[in-house]
Amino acid sequence: MFSKAKEATQFISKHMDGFQPELAMILGSGLGDFAGHVENPKTISYEDIPHFHKTSVVGHAGKLVYGELKGKKVLIFQGRFHAYEGHDWEIVCLPTRVSALIGAKSLLVTNAAGGINQNFSPADLVLIKDHINLTGGNPLIGHNEVGPRFPDMSEAYNHKLNLVLEESAKAIDVDLKAGVYAGFLGPTYETPAEVQMAKIMGADMVGMSTVPEVIAANHVGINVCGVSCITNLAAGINSEKLDHSEVKEVANQAMQKFSKLVLEFVSRVSHE
Ligand code: HPA
Repeated sequence: MFSKAKEATQFISKHMDGFQPELAMILGSGLGDFAGHVENPKTISYEDIPHFHKTSVVGHAGKLVYGELKGKKVLIFQGRFHAYEGHDWEIVCLPTRVSALIGAKSLLVTNAAGGINQNFSPADLVLIKDHINLTGGNPLIGHNEVGPRFPDMSEAYNHKLNLVLEESAKAIDVDLKAGVYAGFLGPTYETPAEVQMAKIMGADMVGMSTVPEVIAANHVGINVCGVSCITNLAAGINSEKLDHSEVKEVANQAMQKFSKLVLEFVSRVSHE
């Protein structure tokens, strides 16, 4: 479960040459450009990192960027690995486990999601309060070398970090909604019946990522929080057909407020 993450971490640590990030981020579809805010950025292409793969999804750059943001040392994964690309869970969880092994204290995960809650509109930003795992799998299946066999998930998204996100949004007057994320396996978008099922279960938005990463984060003990960018209304919530180019376009529209929010979050988050 950890051998690939350890090898990748060794490679990245060597490249970082003493740089010690305190905060890591995984940027989702269309949100990767945020990494452009990093000061004195250093970049590593995913292809060069052991066990990392080229990202196959448009809108995922496939680069690791590190440097300073608001006086904090950050490590940013521009693009993630999805199970629907055919990757094993171990690969899907590499960025999370590498973040923890490198010594980052917190992890922010971001994604594009389809809105179920009727108060959500495209380009809204939503704090992920909790999730429902509808992938049919779990990245912790298998021999458990380190960490608990049965990790507690009662505070999967760290309350303190959630509070910092909420305070950040308030301080800069960005509307940040809150909701439960239902994670499907993909790569098909959901059917309207599946969206209705998720709604009845208590989900406010749907997507195809994040859940395995947050499970792995809780297992390895790194504090995690998440923000979804609503890029469309989920299937059946309105009558339009879903298309990935729309997902990227709406994420780009939300980029400015997303960047403001995350920059404020970075300046406020404390690891003392
Ligand atoms: N469903 C699943 N994943 C998504 C969606 C959606 O509606 N929008 C963006 N990612």
